[in-house]
Amino acid sequence: MSRLETSRGYRAWLPAGRRTDERVIEAWRPLLSRLSARFDLRPEGPGATALRELTGGLAALAGIEPALTIKAGAPAIALGSPEAAQAALAQMDAQALAPEGFRLRFGTANSRKASPAEAESSGGADAAAEPYAVLLGGSDVGLLHAVFAFLRLFQLSEAGPPAELDRTEAPRSALRMIDQWDNMDGSVERGYSGGSIFYRNGRVLSDSPRIADYARLLASVGLNAICVNNVNVHREETKLIAADRLPDVARLAQIFGGFGIRLFLSVNYAAPIELGGLHTADPLDEDVKAWWRRTAEEIYAAIPDFGGFVVKADSENRPGPFSYGRDHADGANLLADALAPFGGLVLWRCFVYDCHQDWRDRSTDRARAAYDHFRPLDGRFRANVVLQIKNGPMDFQTREPVSPLFGAMPRTNQMMEFQIAQEYTGQQRDVCFLVPQWKQALDFDTRLAGPGSTVSRIAAGEVHRFAYSGVVAVSNIGDDDNWTGHHLAQANLYGFGRLAWNPEASAEEIAAEWSALTFGTGSAAATFVRRLLLQSWPVYESYTAPLAVGWMVQPHYHYAVDVDGYEYSKWGTYHFADRNGVGVDRTLATGTGYTGQYAPENRDRYESLADCPDELLLFFHHVPYTHRLQSGKTVIQHIYDSRFEGAAAVEAWIEEWRGLENEVDAERFAHISDRLQGQAENARQWRDVVNTYFYRKSGIADEQGRLIYD
Ligand code: GCU
Repeated sequence: MSRLETSRGYRAWLPAGRRTDERVIEAWRPLLSRLSARFDLRPEGPGATALRELTGGLAALAGIEPALTIKAGAPAIALGSPEAAQAALAQMDAQALAPEGFRLRFGTANSRKASPAEAESSGGADAAAEPYAVLLGGSDVGLLHAVFAFLRLFQLSEAGPPAELDRTEAPRSALRMIDQWDNMDGSVERGYSGGSIFYRNGRVLSDSPRIADYARLLASVGLNAICVNNVNVHREETKLIAADRLPDVARLAQIFGGFGIRLFLSVNYAAPIELGGLHTADPLDEDVKAWWRRTAEEIYAAIPDFGGFVVKADSENRPGPFSYGRDHADGANLLADALAPFGGLVLWRCFVYDCHQDWRDRSTDRARAAYDHFRPLDGRFRANVVLQIKNGPMDFQTREPVSPLFGAMPRTNQMMEFQIAQEYTGQQRDVCFLVPQWKQALDFDTRLAGPGSTVSRIAAGEVHRFAYSGVVAVSNIGDDDNWTGHHLAQANLYGFGRLAWNPEASAEEIAAEWSALTFGTGSAAATFVRRLLLQSWPVYESYTAPLAVGWMVQPHYHYAVDVDGYEYSKWGTYHFADRNGVGVDRTLATGTGYTGQYAPENRDRYESLADCPDELLLFFHHVPYTHRLQSGKTVIQHIYDSRFEGAAAVEAWIEEWRGLENEVDAERFAHISDRLQGQAENARQWRDVVNTYFYRKSGIADEQGRLIYD
């Protein structure tokens, strides 16, 4: 076996080895011994993948190789008693299912007469009751999702299969996407888990088995789209849309397509100049339009199910329509028109702000930028443009309010962008389970179309009836054996997919599920890891930048503490701490007016010092250190208390983890111990630097007299 196959982290949450409880396997065996499947028999199609995943999963989990019957037809898999399954299948209506959705039905049937011996041993005719399960897909991709759901049930079951179950599922959002920030030199922008699995030394690794294994991970949690190169498209990556590179990209598209995942590319807005030899990339220039049309034709000739383009334009020094005096609608529509004949989409990012700001200028507020740039353009974008909006108005901080742009353009398709890569949230060295953070964003009621206009409903296209919408997140994987650097960071990738499929799932459910799948159902390690995950975002927040003020990290690198690291920089990222107080005044009354970008109810809550939620206070207000929070504590005492509590919480995890030494395999025990030690060191440094910084600024002592260095 290769190194990767023996690594405990490589199979992640998927069936990795035989279930340890033989009684569970025996209870499932009658169901798992016979299997008949119908799908489109193309060997690289999602139907074939579904069957492969199911048989592979059963072999891994139970050592069972079912007797197989396979034929072409509408997607369905029947397990257990063929007669009973057929009878159930005949009553199930595939037409009623969403294309990517599925129906899972378990039951038992008395399909044959009990033998006298069976009847006697069980004391009744029930001895002949035979279990069956039917997996019905709205398409072959739906069938694949049904298989993963079925395997999860088996993996998580603490007894036998359910006697009765009838569950229909469909993904809530149409686009459920992952963005890779991978570069062709093999590096990953903001990557914390090794190098790229897609590229090395300028080459596409289209034959690497890791790519199919990654596609499997993504499909297993319901994702259906991927962009395979960094949003910052440099020289080599610009060429991915050139004729000589397309065969490589087509191979990647084929691999992902087999798992029901569509492939997108990030493109360079200046490609007509850099690749096409034109003197301009002006979106209104006829030669530029013709160049993009030809390019789209070539791409679709090579990749008929190509998803479309992701674009970062006029953002952080990337080229864009501003250079030609055009706006973002002109820019996006140029590409949209080229892709429209083939059904392609333009995912246009709204991360547009002034990254050459003067810190002396107190009137410019980076938080306002996306709304100010894009809101006036509502109604001007083509039907196949989707605006991709970061969850917060700044940049993936530990805590931010929801971007006010989301839901504020009723005539423009929008999708929400999260970051699974822990750029500002511990870089996969510290544990920070982000599902609760995303959940809060998804549950936020923008009120922009009346009460109940939550982010999750907008992302699902339910509020404004968007033609296209959904959620996307920046990936956290690399070529480390365990994919994500920190083993526990896998929970974020898993959780993103599960939440994209069903935003109603709770963070608790997702944490419990991942922990059990990864460390074993009912294990002591799973119980502890579940709790640790759920504590981890609040704990990370409690030793880093306080009350949503953000940053305070080492410039460029973004991990360790540097309170003033971004204070006098050009990036528009300030906390304004002085001897009296701290925070950014974004009110309408006395500040930058950012609060005015929200619907009245939210605006008023954030505007009011009394009503603004504690956890967002310093994002919206500049307050004295002696200001009393709703919690009853002063700001300065809150800063001291939470820094001490955060660092202590990490120490407590280390103690508890030590007690699990005999419950977890040596590889993962040592790995997690090591990462927790690193986190404790990081938390101590944050605690002492932040406490000392604010003690020196304010001159106010800790009420509890703990050690603060002066
Ligand atoms: C952040 C990140 C960059 C990234 C950018 C983006 O600023 O630090 O590396 O390119 O976001 O989302 O485009």
